[in-house]
Amino acid sequence: SSSNVVNIVEVGPRDGLQNEKGSVIPPELKAELVDRLVQAGVTNVEAGSFVSPKWVPQMAGTAEVLKRKTTKPGVHYAVLVPNQRGLDDLLTLLSSESQSPPLTDEVSIFTAATDAFTRANLNCSITESLTRLTPVARTALDNGLRVRGYVSVVIACPYTGKVDYKRVREVAKELLEMGCYEVSLGDTVGQGTPFEVQEMIAEVSKDVPVSKLAGHFHDTFGTAVANVLAALDSGIRTIDSSVGGLGGCPYSPGATGNVATEDVLYALQNSPYTVAGTSNGTIDLSQMSDIGWWISEKLGRESVSRVGRAIRAR
Ligand code: HMG
Ligand code: MG
Repeated sequence: SSSNVVNIVEVGPRDGLQNEKGSVIPPELKAELVDRLVQAGVTNVEAGSFVSPKWVPQMAGTAEVLKRKTTKPGVHYAVLVPNQRGLDDLLTLLSSESQSPPLTDEVSIFTAATDAFTRANLNCSITESLTRLTPVARTALDNGLRVRGYVSVVIACPYTGKVDYKRVREVAKELLEMGCYEVSLGDTVGQGTPFEVQEMIAEVSKDVPVSKLAGHFHDTFGTAVANVLAALDSGIRTIDSSVGGLGGCPYSPGATGNVATEDVLYALQNSPYTVAGTSNGTIDLSQMSDIGWWISEKLGRESVSRVGRAIRAR
């Protein structure tokens, strides 16, 4: 029997903010966001990415974010890297700012289940991306970092439609073999239904144990919370979510943000599940709701978390 403890990976400062069209949030504010999330009990937070600023201008300044945030022991502040250059830049930063604990102990690498999406996101095919990422993962591991993998477009692709779940399985397996401790399955478009999610996980888990998988759902069609529950039903215990439902995807036109962290926390109340965290052993819902409003207002708008809005309206 699997544990009923659910782990949240808070991706708001990276996946959320990378696609916010409004004002670009300065590094000191992003660092404050990261710190507030950790204060609310979050133990896994994606702090930013070392990608080309020409491709994703919102993520420029991630080095500053890493330096300015508080580094709390036991908290993983993951950084997304697309290639060797991104990893090298991060390793240079870590050696120039040597401290204990280090500014981060984790990188995320990413590819996708279709060539069309991989080209849009990484400017190469799936096979090329895996070839490029293999030494990146190796070097990260050799330098004491843990590595998380992402597969995008696991249900539907904005360029080619319905995705072949066998391809998701193969790519997830390769990421695991590269040394990823976990592979996050991304419904990038936010178009998946709970039944499709379960079918996809059933296929992937033929080769990869569900304990090594995470669910990453965007809420474009309003199914993200249902998809989280479907993924938990299928045995997944790690969920990526974004405070305030921030974000979208720069290479998936029309896609909305990740499932809101507040909405996941709410949906799991009075359930067989407990959410891991350091605020009284969990993540504090009302604090997360406040953070969702705070950062949304910095972006010049309201929180799009349904739970955040309901709490505020009381
Ligand atoms: P490219 O143009 O093929 O690369 O892009 P290049 O090697 O020819 O380099 C082009 C320029 O970028 C050069 O600069 C490089 O130096 C620079 P120039 O000579 O023109 O001045 N460069 C870099 N700069 C900073 N950091 C780097 C870096 N690498 C090269 N690491 C590349 C290839 C991979 C760089 C590009 O495609 C890229 O940056 N892609 C990242 C896209 C991205 O961040 N997407 C969003 C994250 S994935 C996601 O959101 C999905 C996820 O949430 C799950 C889901 O929902 O599905 C994870
Ligand atoms: Mg995403």
